[in-house]
Amino acid sequence: ALVNTRGMFKKAYDGGYAIGAFNVNNMEIIQGITEAAGELNAPVILQVSKGARAYANPTYLVKLVEAAVAEHPEIPIVLHLDHGPSYEMCKACIDDGFTSVMFDGSSKPYEENVAESAKVVEYAHKYNVTVEAELGTLGGVEDDVSVEADKAMYTDPDQVQDFVKRTGVDSLAIAIGTSHGAYKFKPGQNPKLRLDILEEVSKRLPGFPIVLHGASSVPQEFVKVVNTYGGNMPNAIGIPESELRKAAKMAVCKINVDSDIRLAMTATIRKCFHDHPDYFDPRQYLGPAREAVKDMVSHKITDVMGCNGK
Ligand code: G3H
Ligand code: 13P
Ligand code: ZN
Repeated sequence: ALVNTRGMFKKAYDGGYAIGAFNVNNMEIIQGITEAAGELNAPVILQVSKGARAYANPTYLVKLVEAAVAEHPEIPIVLHLDHGPSYEMCKACIDDGFTSVMFDGSSKPYEENVAESAKVVEYAHKYNVTVEAELGTLGGVEDDVSVEADKAMYTDPDQVQDFVKRTGVDSLAIAIGTSHGAYKFKPGQNPKLRLDILEEVSKRLPGFPIVLHGASSVPQEFVKVVNTYGGNMPNAIGIPESELRKAAKMAVCKINVDSDIRLAMTATIRKCFHDHPDYFDPRQYLGPAREAVKDMVSHKITDVMGCNGK
């Protein structure tokens, strides 16, 4: 059934596991993810970015997710807006039937982030829609920044209580060393998360669900296939699964994955075209790509999130 994140996160927090939040852009991605979740009896979050909404048009993804819910009535599925840039877009998605929205005010001054997040919460809660907000800035690890500047990118644990109290948000995304995309660390860099900051945040917010963005692990087997079959993704590095497993056992209840889906599909399609130069029916390569998404998501659910059978 289509649900909001509230009950799901409570169970995940108490059970010491996380729910996978996967970005969706088309039918094959939605099918691959929900077939994996359905077979493993796992709760799942399907998230739509502003870009995804523009790509597919606002109607299609909602209808495709509704189809997935009808096909898998046994598992809880959340339809979530990822990185909502404005109150207006959050409202539009709530009106379209989303059960959860993120308002991302992380790049705005603190007081603006508080005020706009609170405004989204006020509207969303009227419709039983849950709200995720963000404090801190992702992506610093990739840049040449000094230790001081680098420190400033992480979420400040001193702000989280005030933020959650004044906004009424249901979950909070924090910056502890993850970043978006396929290039999260430089070669030779120690690919670690600041789990000490996560620990500090959870002390200030007991029982409160935390979200990790930019949490793809960039499996090297996909990178290798991409690079073997004509791609060019040198030094693509993600978050080690061991770090994600630790975070999932702590206060992290939602782990966002998009890049790994892109890699699974691209690696599969590149190899498919190499092996079968005669293929020109999209089903011949989108079918295997959908299967690769399913396998990757199954692995995440069982070996990283720990939410199978939940
Ligand atoms: O956080 C960003 C997600 O990976 C979505 O990416 O905005 O290109 O759809 P997108
Ligand atoms: P990745 O780029 O690590 O997959 O992160 C996705 C994400 O955070 C979507 O909001
Ligand atoms: Zn994100």
